[in-house]
Amino acid sequence: MVPERFAEDADRTGHIMLQKNTEQTREGQGLTVPVWDIWVRLFHWLLLACVATATVTGFFADATWLRLHIAGGLGAAGLVLARIVWGFTGPTHARFKDFFPRPSAVMEHLRGGGGRHRGHNPLGGAMVFAFFLAILFLAATGLAILGGAFKTGPLAFAFTFQSGHAMEEVHELIALALLVMIGLHVAGVVLESFRSRENLARGMVTGEKEWRADDHQPRIARPRGLAAAAAIAAVGAVLILANTGLSARPVPGMPVANLDPTYAQECGDCHTVYHPSLLPAASWRALMPRLADHFGENASLGPELTAELEAYLVAHAAETADTKAANRMARGLDAPPLAMTETPFWKHQHEDLAKALFASDAVGSASNCAACHLDAETGLFSPLSISIPKQETIR
Ligand code: HEC
Ligand code: HEC
Repeated sequence: MVPERFAEDADRTGHIMLQKNTEQTREGQGLTVPVWDIWVRLFHWLLLACVATATVTGFFADATWLRLHIAGGLGAAGLVLARIVWGFTGPTHARFKDFFPRPSAVMEHLRGGGGRHRGHNPLGGAMVFAFFLAILFLAATGLAILGGAFKTGPLAFAFTFQSGHAMEEVHELIALALLVMIGLHVAGVVLESFRSRENLARGMVTGEKEWRADDHQPRIARPRGLAAAAAIAAVGAVLILANTGLSARPVPGMPVANLDPTYAQECGDCHTVYHPSLLPAASWRALMPRLADHFGENASLGPELTAELEAYLVAHAAETADTKAANRMARGLDAPPLAMTETPFWKHQHEDLAKALFASDAVGSASNCAACHLDAETGLFSPLSISIPKQETIR
């Protein structure tokens, strides 16, 4: 038999349905109510997948995984934006007003009062908002880092290497905070599952929860799917337009785009045509007069050509560019380096790569940057453009 209050409840809500086949249900589980709609559940588990991907690639993988890291992070941010729309348009328990953490409600819940909340309890609700804030901040600081160091993405015009680098610490701090929050969230779910004698995680899978007479009474809301779809499409369109517009803005500190043809011809015979921004002016000034004894080779050119190329290299040296390589390669050294591969920065970046890789047919030598860095000619050396030659071609 259907308890009277439940019938009323069901009647008022319209969309709350009785589990039809009550005969088949087990004792004490006679009645369930749908709590989490399919979109909330999909959101929850997809968000977990995105955050897990971004976390693992962010903390444990090297720069070659950056693409997946960005996909996880932006995926999480996109999900959060869609969920925010659903917080204003979804059914009863998807709505923010169902779990907005008013301080009084949080205190009452902590004291064990306020009745059982079918949706998020006030503490859980507070955590939801904290998650959203953290994930959106992570996406924003991530784009700042990408823009500052690699001159890529919608924030490239606004961030220098220095300001982007400063964001790196903020990004990491928020990421750590997010991990702590996930720990608290899981602990909260476990505790609350014991306290209310129900498996809350299972509820997020099936969407159903047991109906109980003393449940906190929610304010019923009907889902407005069309409005949600329209709002999500509008937010998406604005973001795409903003990204296109911002990415097209001139980026200060971009390395010189086209390599001088004479330089490429004269200095590209034996190795990658090194982008002038890889070394500071002082390095080029030291290197060019010594071409007759150039790393054991004679690379000498006529005095005029040498002077012309030196002027070109100095004019576009590291001081004129704002990439990570330009900022870091010669930093903190007593004398200007004569080779990138001799700098502590280069060694640190490449220390995990096998010696055999550099000696392989496909690479030949560490100085053959273009074998692994598809954007070597642009001077960017973005982790998004690293492609290590396949294992089969390695001896
Ligand atoms: C005859 C061949 C030859 C020519 C021509 C040549 N180089 Fe080199 N260069 C070398 C060799 C050999 C090395 C040592 C690195 C290696 O093992 O590939 C080297 C290394 C370098 C390095 C250091 C790379 C590193 O390991 O970080 C720079 C910078 C460089 N060359 C600049 C130039 C410039 C500028 C020109 C044009 C004026 C030039 N090279 C022309 C043979 C050449
Ligand atoms: C055998 C492949 C290979 C060669 C050759 C190579 N690199 Fe790299 N480089 C890598 C890999 C892989 C990474 C990413 C390392 C990591 O993050 O753990 C990297 C990272 C870098 C970075 C830092 C990118 C970032 O994450 O900010 C710079 C700058 C760089 N390389 C410059 C050079 C220069 C200059 C040369 C040539 C003198 C060179 N590399 C030659 C494979 C190579």
